[in-house]
Amino acid sequence: MTALLEGTGLHRHYRLPRRGPFEPGPVRTAVDGVDLAVTAGGRLGIVGESGSGKSTLVRLLAGLEAPTAGTVTASGRPVVASSSARALRWYRRETGVVFQDPYASLDPRMRVGAIVAEPLRALRVPGSHESLVASVLERVDLPADAATRYPHEFSGGQRQRIAIARAVVHSPLILFGDEPMSALDVVVRARVIDLFRSLADDLGLTLVLVSHDIGVVQRLCDTVAVMSGGRIVEHGPVSLLDAPEHPVTRALVAAAPTLP
Ligand SMILES: Nc1ncnc2c1ncn2[C@@H]1O[C@H](COP(=O)(O)OP(=O)(O)OP(=O)(O)O)[C@@H](O)[C@H]1O
Ligand SMILES: [Mg+2]
Repeated sequence: MTALLEGTGLHRHYRLPRRGPFEPGPVRTAVDGVDLAVTAGGRLGIVGESGSGKSTLVRLLAGLEAPTAGTVTASGRPVVASSSARALRWYRRETGVVFQDPYASLDPRMRVGAIVAEPLRALRVPGSHESLVASVLERVDLPADAATRYPHEFSGGQRQRIAIARAVVHSPLILFGDEPMSALDVVVRARVIDLFRSLADDLGLTLVLVSHDIGVVQRLCDTVAVMSGGRIVEHGPVSLLDAPEHPVTRALVAAAPTLP
């Protein structure tokens, strides 16, 4: 099978602020040589300790940030992150992203209907945006009047449903999630996991999901990549988490809380 999404030789370095007038800032390596391929319909989990480069890798794969070196391709086309909205519109159409914090990621001054419709406007999707928004809000189990209300009127779990609705309203091929369940309590998290799975099934989504929670990856993903120090140290079917080989994976599994 050919890959829908591919990262080759990915590096991302950051220059930290200079320490003095004549001293250049040190370079921090966040992603340090990653090769990765996700087939259409594949569900990849990315796990690893804090600071291992998971979020940076997802930003590179989602075209939100340019790699220092290496390439990302999707559907065989190069993804070149740029400041021009038009250059990557094709890729924005193919992708949706959900971040960790449902409080920070929703504009408090906008009504939910406008928030969820935003990608449709930006991507110039034809047809009635209002009916697309209404059907996606229903799909993520939000109340019928949700579109006319503001984010602060909703609970944390509901806000994450709003963020998910916004991420899939334009029917993307790939859904990226960076710790999308981490801010939620256990019961709400389990429901949002179920929502992710049923959306992925119904829409045939390809999933790329970062989580420090092994249990989330075991429930949602078919393959897993384990990161440490900006590299992938173990990669394979999600069942490798049942018998981890690499010391980093072993430590992650040993530290994992057991989900109810
Ligand atoms: N914009 C940035 N500027 C400078 N350093 C950065 C930047 N983004 C990430 N880093 C550094 O790169 C490394 C990897 O960060 P990243 O956020 O990708 O890790 P992570 O695995 O997502 O961690 P966490 O589990 O805590 O979210 C860290 O050392 C981080 O401090
Ligand atoms: Mg992160």
